[in-house]
Amino acid sequence: MNFTNLLIGVCIAVTAPAWARQAKPMTEQGLEELLTRMSVREKIGQLNFCRIGEPGVEKLVRAGEVGGFLNVREHALREKYEKIAVKETRLGIPLLHGADVIHGYRTIFPIPLGQAAAWNPSLCEEAARIAALEATATAGVRWTFSPMVDVARDARWGRIAEGCGEDPYLTGVLGAAMVRGYQGKDLRDPARMAACPKHFAGYGASEGGRDYNTVDISERTLRDFYLPPFKACFDAGAPTTMSAFSELNGVPITGSSFMLRQVLRDEWKFDGFVVSDAKAVSQLVAHGFSENEKDAAQAAIQAGLDVEIISTCYVDHLQTLIAEGKVPMQLLDEAVRRILRVKWKLGLFENPTPAAVKENVLLTPESLATARAFARQSVVLLKNEKELLPLRKEIPSVAVIGPLADDGKGQLGCWMVYGKEKDTRTPLQAIRELAGTKMKVNYAAGLKNATSTDQSGFGDAVRAAKESSVAVLFLGEDASMTGEAHNRAFLNLPGAQRDLLKAVKATGTPIVIVLMAGRPLEIGPALDDSSAFLMAWHPGTMGGPGIADVLFGEYNPAGKLPVSWPRSVGQIPIHYNHGNTGRPNPMQFSPAINDETQLDTSHVTGYVDSASVPQFPFGYGLSYTKFGYSNVRVEPSQIHSGDSVNVTVTLKNTGARAGDEVAQLYIRDLVASVAQPVRELKGFQRVSLAPGESKTVAFVLTSDALAFHNREMKRVTEPGKFQVWASGDSASGQPVEFEIK
Ligand code: BGC
Repeated sequence: MNFTNLLIGVCIAVTAPAWARQAKPMTEQGLEELLTRMSVREKIGQLNFCRIGEPGVEKLVRAGEVGGFLNVREHALREKYEKIAVKETRLGIPLLHGADVIHGYRTIFPIPLGQAAAWNPSLCEEAARIAALEATATAGVRWTFSPMVDVARDARWGRIAEGCGEDPYLTGVLGAAMVRGYQGKDLRDPARMAACPKHFAGYGASEGGRDYNTVDISERTLRDFYLPPFKACFDAGAPTTMSAFSELNGVPITGSSFMLRQVLRDEWKFDGFVVSDAKAVSQLVAHGFSENEKDAAQAAIQAGLDVEIISTCYVDHLQTLIAEGKVPMQLLDEAVRRILRVKWKLGLFENPTPAAVKENVLLTPESLATARAFARQSVVLLKNEKELLPLRKEIPSVAVIGPLADDGKGQLGCWMVYGKEKDTRTPLQAIRELAGTKMKVNYAAGLKNATSTDQSGFGDAVRAAKESSVAVLFLGEDASMTGEAHNRAFLNLPGAQRDLLKAVKATGTPIVIVLMAGRPLEIGPALDDSSAFLMAWHPGTMGGPGIADVLFGEYNPAGKLPVSWPRSVGQIPIHYNHGNTGRPNPMQFSPAINDETQLDTSHVTGYVDSASVPQFPFGYGLSYTKFGYSNVRVEPSQIHSGDSVNVTVTLKNTGARAGDEVAQLYIRDLVASVAQPVRELKGFQRVSLAPGESKTVAFVLTSDALAFHNREMKRVTEPGKFQVWASGDSASGQPVEFEIK
């Protein structure tokens, strides 16, 4: 250090003590003080989150010009930079590390769409808690880019796997549970991380199911369907959100003051920060919204976008924009304040560097047990002819066939930043373990991987089936076919899987299909060729044991579909909460599942060459037992706005096995100033029933839950008649009525 530097160092030490290093609790006033001590570069630095390995990063950290890092794997470097930031920079502001811990860190739980199929908020919360514990202890991650709460009506979109399906209510309830799980009661707990509901908002409506594509939806659709899950997550305390890549009605969200200021801050009073999606600020240029990256920086900060990731428009241009008077300092201060406040809430000022890596929290027996419970609860039984399932443990032999039977990586699903194939228990391993020496397991992959068209393994598969009492086929997509940018134009079984199924079918051995995929696929013919059909999604680390539990009756499946299952790509977008139209299709209310006979030629909404009802409706899922719904009551039958009604239903296990049923509450607003959907989910409960047992299931329906956005875009509950269903899916049950006076 030369003399001048030394002098500067001494002066700074005297005049500007490393404020943030003072070990005293941060306060709003302290935050303001800190802000006044920050240079413009330091302020802009807080808005800059980058990858740890990028060239020149250490210099930036030393200058106090990095807010934190993304998806860090280089832990020695991370610890070094944390120390530099806190101990060697002028102000000592701690770093914040964010990561895509989407459905687990090392213990991988089912993909979020699979989690949604369990309709179990407590499990979502617990899985998120475990993810936070693992991520904070071993990677210093205190901020997760999750939950993804984009409502999705389009199975072509690869990212349907990352969300909770098509319903705003279900997505909101589960998203809020994840937020609670990540964050706990106090974000200062070093084993918790800040949640980041994403991608704000409307991203799920990308045209044609093509990721990043244009979104053009009405403001009402946005407000009634796409925004409520975000609101639920913010109400649960999420202090950050990520802006969607997409444009919404012509304006990219990253530059949309309507979305980031009006809705988020003015209407919802959200006081957290907004992070861009990867490079989304610089992509304002590609959108044709900004002329160059400098304009993009200006547009984004004016819109209310606080943190930029991966691209560097803020770092490169904000200082000049401020000097030129194009961006007021107050805008920069607002953004910095929001980021510092989250760092403060996380306790980073008091406890800036996480304790040394604690590997012993990873993959504990308890975490693996939760992962197994989640995997089996996410399984949806779609068909079970002649009660082929559950398989008896006494059968002499079972054929385990298919490219996904032993694909430890494939079953982990998309967004495996820290998950490892070696931790994974596959169905083949689990079935072999369960079979022991008594049951013979004849395994043949048939195809080398999910997309293979090489049929040279079919002979072995056929032989395995011939030698077995039953053939269980593990078909579907592997992880690499789903998630971000992995959209599909066709939803068929990939590669030669359909041919493999035909070859096995020809043996006459009864077939059980276990579909593992990041989305519903077109399965009509496969359903016909099988006696039993399970949807297992991408079930995560303990997917194998979870699926084996269901196959062999250790667990009675209770999963329900979080999406309407399309028969064909042509039905997409498909969702149960659609409008009635002026020419409704009489089949839309039909509980008849798999009815292929309907050809809608009589000038009603539908197709001349396909049924318009889905293959399986939203909320659908069978059990090894049966449930009966009766005696649905709504009391009182007339209320005033502001009041609530009690809905009760008698739920009976009419079969011979104990089981869980997810009882669902739907409503329809019969006449409104804006035509309302034919059904909307407003509640659900998971109920355990012994054989023959009945329970009264009670829901409280508030009049607020019946609100929608009217023509003036005000959220209102209008008086009038409502129908209510308490049923096992979105297409069954008999409605009862009540009225708001
Ligand atoms: C994805 C986000 C993710 C981010 C950071 C983007 O490509 O769209 O969902 O959180 O990368 O890794």
